[in-house]
Amino acid sequence: MVYRAAPKDGVAWITGASSGIGRAVTLELARRGYTVAATARRHDELAALAAKAEPLAGRIVAHEADVTDAAAMAGVVRAIEQAHGPIALAFLNAGIAPYTRAADLDVTAFAKAHAVNVMGVVNGMAPLFAVMAERGRGQVAVTASVAGYGGLPKAAAYGASKAAAIHLCEALKFDCDLLGINLQVVNPGFVKTPLTAKNDFPMPSAIGEDEAARRICDGFETAGFEIAFPRRLAWTLKLLNLLPYRLYFPLVARATGWNRRPARDEAPQPDKA
Ligand SMILES: NC(=O)c1ccc[n+]([C@@H]2O[C@H](COP(=O)([O-])OP(=O)(O)OC[C@H]3O[C@@H](n4cnc5c(N)ncnc54)[C@H](OP(=O)(O)O)[C@@H]3O)[C@@H](O)[C@H]2O)c1
Repeated sequence: MVYRAAPKDGVAWITGASSGIGRAVTLELARRGYTVAATARRHDELAALAAKAEPLAGRIVAHEADVTDAAAMAGVVRAIEQAHGPIALAFLNAGIAPYTRAADLDVTAFAKAHAVNVMGVVNGMAPLFAVMAERGRGQVAVTASVAGYGGLPKAAAYGASKAAAIHLCEALKFDCDLLGINLQVVNPGFVKTPLTAKNDFPMPSAIGEDEAARRICDGFETAGFEIAFPRRLAWTLKLLNLLPYRLYFPLVARATGWNRRPARDEAPQPDKA
């Protein structure tokens, strides 16, 4: 039997809770009755989010931390369990999306994307899996992206980190099944959040963060290993990745308008932070 977390089993923990998808999922889980421990670096955003839970069935408690700090993440898991009880459901969602182009390959963008999007996930998993394995149950979902399915323009750093996140979840699922841990990967298409507000390209089938949160929380309750949406975009990208490269590259270049782009961006990239 696959374990599905419920508020009676313990609390939910969400990283990347101060903004966008993580913030919307935090509110949605509080609406569904969970006590939600919300983690991110920005104190004021977390405090404002906790206040928004007052009329909801559950509540939100802030636990600030940087996901790239392994010791801090272990400390947050300990602090949440001591203060609020066992973590039944965790959503490891914090992420950044630095874009890169070949003529100006930004080495630090790769390091940062991997530090947050890959090691940030592992830093959460390590202490979580230890306590969940002890209990013989738990549910953990990781936000990757449909951009992790295959190479897309500008997404060398971001897409590679998300491919790694998908891969590490696939590989760990074998052990998690034996431990009673329900491990899921969440692969969103475009969601309108502060992260995508900087995008200078069309975002087909983009949805709002509240709709994304509903789909993710419904997926916690009913989906299998992967929660991917919008389905049409996810399946189109999956099918494109089955094609031989001689078809894949021209089709993606045409679909993204990349065949009409200059080889360099004119303005400096705003997203190197
Ligand atoms: N929006 C999309 O279209 C889309 C599509 C596919 C996948 N995703 C993925 O979904 C996740 C959420 O993205 P979003 O669109 O909601 O972005 P967002 O609005 O920019 O939110 C990113 C969150 O990650 C947190 N974060 C970043 N670096 C962190 C660090 N070092 N330590 C702790 N927290 C950190 C931020 O909080 P602080 O700055 O306060 O720390 C913020 O809460 C990301 O993993 C992203 O890659 C997004």
